[in-house]
Amino acid sequence: MYRILFEKATLPVLIIDAEGRILFANRGFEHLLGYAPGECLDLYLRDFCLPYERDRFIFSNLGKLAETMELDLDLKDKHGQSITANIILSPFERRTRPHLLLIFRDVTGKRTQEGQLRDSEERYRRLLAERDNLEAQLKRSIKLACLGELAAGIAHEVNNPLGIILGFSQDILDEIDQDHPLWESIKIIEQETARCVGVVQNLLELARPNPPQVMEVNLAQLVEDSVGLLLPRIKSNKIHVKYNLDDHPPAMRLDPQMIQQALLNLLINAIQSMPLGGELTLGLGHCAEPAESMICITITDTGHGIAAEHQSRIFEPFFSTKGSKGTGLGLAISQRIIENHGGRIEITSQEGAGTTCAVLLPQT
Ligand SMILES: Nc1ncnc2c1ncn2[C@@H]1O[C@H](COP(=O)(O)OP(=O)(O)OP(=O)(O)O)[C@@H](O)[C@H]1O
Ligand SMILES: [Mg+2]
Repeated sequence: MYRILFEKATLPVLIIDAEGRILFANRGFEHLLGYAPGECLDLYLRDFCLPYERDRFIFSNLGKLAETMELDLDLKDKHGQSITANIILSPFERRTRPHLLLIFRDVTGKRTQEGQLRDSEERYRRLLAERDNLEAQLKRSIKLACLGELAAGIAHEVNNPLGIILGFSQDILDEIDQDHPLWESIKIIEQETARCVGVVQNLLELARPNPPQVMEVNLAQLVEDSVGLLLPRIKSNKIHVKYNLDDHPPAMRLDPQMIQQALLNLLINAIQSMPLGGELTLGLGHCAEPAESMICITITDTGHGIAAEHQSRIFEPFFSTKGSKGTGLGLAISQRIIENHGGRIEITSQEGAGTTCAVLLPQT
């Protein structure tokens, strides 16, 4: 009766010894793996597994199993087709030797479905991330477009009066001596007005950038020239400059004035982050993988770094931690310029240790 029960049951069933040798296989098992009646006898369970399954812990511990357990194994049938089986292993003793009763369930379809589900979940997650990215870009463009309207309005209303104030204060400075009691005050009016003119111009540039005027440029030269323009500030902050420039960078086609402006903004930030001195390292060369087709300029400082909670906001127009000393437009403008050249800026920073700005530009 027992033999009939096992042989006629459609569930695949095996009895194996502690070495995994098959002592009994029912029709269900033979059928599952495409074997003829009796063909599986004396083979080992391992022999039915796909190669990567054969070293599993369970195979060297079959005799030590004390309780029923369940596991999934990838098997192959007689024709080499793979099958994922869920197996319940129940240990028992026969003539004082450990044996196991195994009941199989074919779960290949279920696992494939789960795999497909995981794949589509993964695809969905990627699409969501892409959408978030596009949304952020769109938000930025809308913000910049609004800013453009505002900037054009401000420029129109404010630029002329500012120009007039600047002109008159310069006239007065020409007329009076430096020891005149009002000279200092007029000088401040001149400087601050010039600063306002600069802010309005920056705003306009951010909002309505001119198309780049591209020409062939030696980037190493451009980097050195940009640092040269800031030497007085670099010296007064007691900053040591190190160059790590590729001697033969490929000639690049870009707008040298715009790229220099972007570099100056990044360099000024680096200098400002090291009021008590430090090291400024400039690098130029091919980017690391996966962007190896791009050229990378790096500006590394040993300054105060950027607080973790600020790192996501530094490219926002008007985000600044410098109070009245900063407008918060520097990075926004630099990003706009580099993006207009088909590149991007990546900033990594550790608070208290320093910051690295990488400018990645495509080689075209
Ligand atoms: N190298 C750096 N080290 C430390 N903080 C930095 C660095 N670069 C940028 N930051 C942070 O990012 C903020 C935004 O920089 P961004 O250049 O846009 O504006 P800003 O320097 O404050 O003002 P502006 O450039 O308009 O004078 C800074 O206020 C500062 O907090
Ligand atoms: Mg700045």
